[in-house]
Amino acid sequence: MSQFAPIQFDAAYPLLAHNTFGFDVRARLACRIESEAQLMQAVRDPRAAGLARLVLGGGSNVVLTRDFDGLVLLIALRGRRVVREDDEAWYVEAAAGENWHDFVAWTLSQGLPGLENLALIPGTVGAAPIQNIGAYGLEMCERFASLRAVALATGETVELDALACRFGYRDSFFKREGRDRFVITSVTFRLPKAWTPRAGYADLARHLNADGASSAAAPTAQAIFDAVVAVRRAKLPDPLELGNAGSFFKNPVIDAAQFDALHAREPEVVSYRQPDGSVKLAAGWLIDRCGWKGRSIGAAGVHERQALVLVNRGGASGADVLALAQAIQRDVHDRFGVTLEAEPLCL
Ligand code: EPU
Repeated sequence: MSQFAPIQFDAAYPLLAHNTFGFDVRARLACRIESEAQLMQAVRDPRAAGLARLVLGGGSNVVLTRDFDGLVLLIALRGRRVVREDDEAWYVEAAAGENWHDFVAWTLSQGLPGLENLALIPGTVGAAPIQNIGAYGLEMCERFASLRAVALATGETVELDALACRFGYRDSFFKREGRDRFVITSVTFRLPKAWTPRAGYADLARHLNADGASSAAAPTAQAIFDAVVAVRRAKLPDPLELGNAGSFFKNPVIDAAQFDALHAREPEVVSYRQPDGSVKLAAGWLIDRCGWKGRSIGAAGVHERQALVLVNRGGASGADVLALAQAIQRDVHDRFGVTLEAEPLCL
């Protein structure tokens, strides 16, 4: 389609295939975005004036509890390339609509290591910075250089660096002050040439060790990629088979005094001391201890192998999943005095 042709808006658009929980809801309007020019056109289109907007990439971090009474922008921007290199790093750019895992696999096929720990995370490149995806000892922000985005208010393009994105644990500017204000169109990653394996995460180290001493001693980026894929496949449900949005809750962070009191009562609590003295708790362990693992309320359930993942066992609504999430939050709070915060965006 030419970038000057009128952009197509579809009414009462079904979102079933656009959210990994598989909730059967509709958008008042939706349009597919294949270029920045189309995005600017859609944002300025009078048919969408005054409407709420929702950006959907892979739909892997959203809980749609009802029909969306606004315009859904389906991001289908494609393309990936090495934009430049210097003595220290390669800079690789990918369009927002690229599938994250395919992009990671492609970087490795080009001989560019650095993203392998983030293999198999569902979703798109454009969604990765929003919650600063992380897994197996690496957060996306450690490999981030900059991103391009279109400001919804003006339709203009901006470039933002890591400082402007204010990355935190599963957090960024786009979940706070920047919420609903920008549409990310591409992300540039900085992959250092001085690559060293990051293989310390318990599950990963166990898998690499089981695989043979040589690969464990000095694993290649490909060996780490393969191990991450194997560990994730063993533990986390594939959204194509069982609707889910990955971890439903963030791992809560509490202060040292609260942790000491909790630890005295619950000596087995799984915890990670943070550089600032605070302590991150494994929410999956807390939920598991409350007896929720494998349980369901109606068609909304807690995964059998990872209690942090809520699943749609077939025909659940977003409201069903939220009701289950609230029951879990209540139990965890009653037993541990800890508040669990949802990780996906609940609408
Ligand atoms: N645990 C239990 N029971 C459970 C689940 C976990 O006892 O049902 C215990 C485990 O035995 C382990 C600890 O809790 O000791 C941590 O579990 P795990 O290594 O599976 O990691 P997590 O903290 O539950 C986080 C991320 C995942 C990421 C893994 C690996 C968050 C919210 N989640 O999970 O990310 O894949 O670490 O790095 O930080 C996602 O964000 O969607 C996601 C899957």
